[in-house]
Amino acid sequence: MWNFKNAARELAPVVRAFPAHPVQVLKAMPDEWRQRMGRTSVQDADFDPDWNEHLHGLLGAPWPCPEVKRLRDLLEEVGQLLTEKGFGTGLHTYGWYSDADVDMCTAIWCAVRHTQPETVLETGVAHGVSSRVILEGLNLNERGRLWSIDIANPLNFAVHGQEGAAVTEECRRRWTYVEGESSKRMPPLVKEIGKVDLFIHDSLHTFKNTLFEMEQAASVMQAGAVMLVDDIRSHDGFTVFARRHPEFKTIYVSTLDGIGAIGIAVRS
Ligand SMILES: C[S@@+](CC[C@H](N)C(=O)[O-])C[C@H]1O[C@@H](n2cnc3c(N)ncnc32)[C@H](O)[C@@H]1O
Repeated sequence: MWNFKNAARELAPVVRAFPAHPVQVLKAMPDEWRQRMGRTSVQDADFDPDWNEHLHGLLGAPWPCPEVKRLRDLLEEVGQLLTEKGFGTGLHTYGWYSDADVDMCTAIWCAVRHTQPETVLETGVAHGVSSRVILEGLNLNERGRLWSIDIANPLNFAVHGQEGAAVTEECRRRWTYVEGESSKRMPPLVKEIGKVDLFIHDSLHTFKNTLFEMEQAASVMQAGAVMLVDDIRSHDGFTVFARRHPEFKTIYVSTLDGIGAIGIAVRS
């Protein structure tokens, strides 16, 4: 909730960063403000309470899903690792940014395990919770590679160095971390990879950036490919994409904590 105490706590690192990095801070502020203060036209009724069962339907996977227990154990391990490193895990533990929550991780895990992707592309790493979940899934599948595009927190320099902290050495052999803004890095990378089987958006959650990333990924997605788009409550990027692309079947998810929202799009 936005109140004076929260605002002061969130602004403190920005004020500290400004004298040393004025250009970066000033450049990042408008978009950071947009993603915090934006709204969506998606209504409560649009969210699907049985989203997980319906996702499995779209993936042609069994329901109830036998994979859930394995993911819960993995998330516990990831939480312990981040706590041991002194970073914490969950909401707002990478500056204003949060680790992927349990619903997002569940959707990612099931997409990786059930579709056995060869090429996975994600934007937004931070602690690397989602990256770790993807990479553990690829290891179990014994196939596939992950490319992750990310910049370190543009407004909180105190958390720099924590990027990818959740990703173990064992997982890194299937991982390419691409440093830079998705608007610049994604077009050449998409061209280089040539095909994306699974795309995960968790970077800058503005209308323009989300829609841009989805269009980029869609341009190289074939039937059965999956997109998981985090934080769709602050803009209408996901909804506009869904209207433009009827070839994608969509599901709207309100996360367990009622704060987050995820868009799922599966190419038919
Ligand atoms: C919500 S966090 C990602 C959380 C991560 N998926 C996880 O599960 O731990 C968002 C990340 O995207 C990065 N980011 C912000 N704007 C970006 C941009 N334009 N391009 C790429 N990454 C960006 C942030 O610095 C941060 O590392």
